[in-house]
Amino acid sequence: MRTVFWEQGEVVVIDQRRLPQTLEYKRCGDYRQVAAAIKDMLVRGAPAIGATAAYGMALAAKQHSGLDRREFLLKMEEASRALAATRPTAVNLFWALKEIERVIELNSDKEPGEIYRMVLDTAEKIAGDDIQTNRKIGEYGSRLVPPGANILTHCNTGSLATVEFGTALGVIRAAHRQGKKIHVFVDETRPRLQGARLTAWELVQDNIPATLIPDSASGMLMKDGRVDLVLVGADRIALNGDTANKIGTYNVAVIARENHVPFYVVAPTTTIDFDLENGDQIIIEERDRREVTHIDDMAVAPEGVGVFNPAFDVTPEKYITAIITEMGIIERPFGENLRRLKQKIKGEG
Ligand code: MRU
Repeated sequence: MRTVFWEQGEVVVIDQRRLPQTLEYKRCGDYRQVAAAIKDMLVRGAPAIGATAAYGMALAAKQHSGLDRREFLLKMEEASRALAATRPTAVNLFWALKEIERVIELNSDKEPGEIYRMVLDTAEKIAGDDIQTNRKIGEYGSRLVPPGANILTHCNTGSLATVEFGTALGVIRAAHRQGKKIHVFVDETRPRLQGARLTAWELVQDNIPATLIPDSASGMLMKDGRVDLVLVGADRIALNGDTANKIGTYNVAVIARENHVPFYVVAPTTTIDFDLENGDQIIIEERDRREVTHIDDMAVAPEGVGVFNPAFDVTPEKYITAIITEMGIIERPFGENLRRLKQKIKGEG
């Protein structure tokens, strides 16, 4: 199942807000609709956001390809700014926009129609690479999953959070396909319930044994020795290994450490922010109070109450056992090993 794709000159995304009740697709013919789809979380999950933004740029290029070159380039800058302003935490968004900007810059002397084709090709490549990346992550990560393991996961890191297959959920999928007879505890993931609505849905579709739990039950399960390992995704990983992920991830990591449960972060290398020394500098998105005070249209809190609704938290690197990527498993010490990876990818220190 593909979360985002290009079809007949439009960007098509699954409207994840409608799951698990209905699998509904939204067609976007204007890049501003793509930006709104990211902001309003029809599409969410770091790698999916990145690929969707790249397709949004392809759409902007198509929309403006009739303009003269100078106007076209200005409009593309405007589109990039609009897409970048949607969600601040997942670095994949900014990575994908930079990739597209690079292609535009390198070809800025060409005709807009030609640049549009190149931008679309780049978006298709970003999306295609994401699928391959996730399969590799699944191969590496599944080596760490013992047969019969009970795995705890938080938020949604599956096909829906990527272009296809998933990161942490991709590891779970790979281990299941290898016949390892695993079982997954799924944190419901308040307030937006990505675990209950999306992860549980993906696991049921794939016939992977799963148990949905309130977020607050994971501590008790770990204390009772019922969890063998934790697998979570990431929205931004700093050079020292500090990791931003869905709010509540930090709580899980601390309790995992207390109970000697391995805690793995699973992410493509495009989620590593090689320019960021540590997690203190990560911008944490705060979302609407209504996500906390309401479930769908029903109020579950009194109107006058104050609300704090951060979408992500940062887990300090000391709680992370290893980081699973498509380029292999990154062991501790992360500072040293991530710098080495940076050198490999960017050819610099
Ligand atoms: O707010 P969301 O739903 O976009 O948050 C998603 C997460 O935190 C995921 O765990 C993360 O993006 C990794 S997805 C492979």
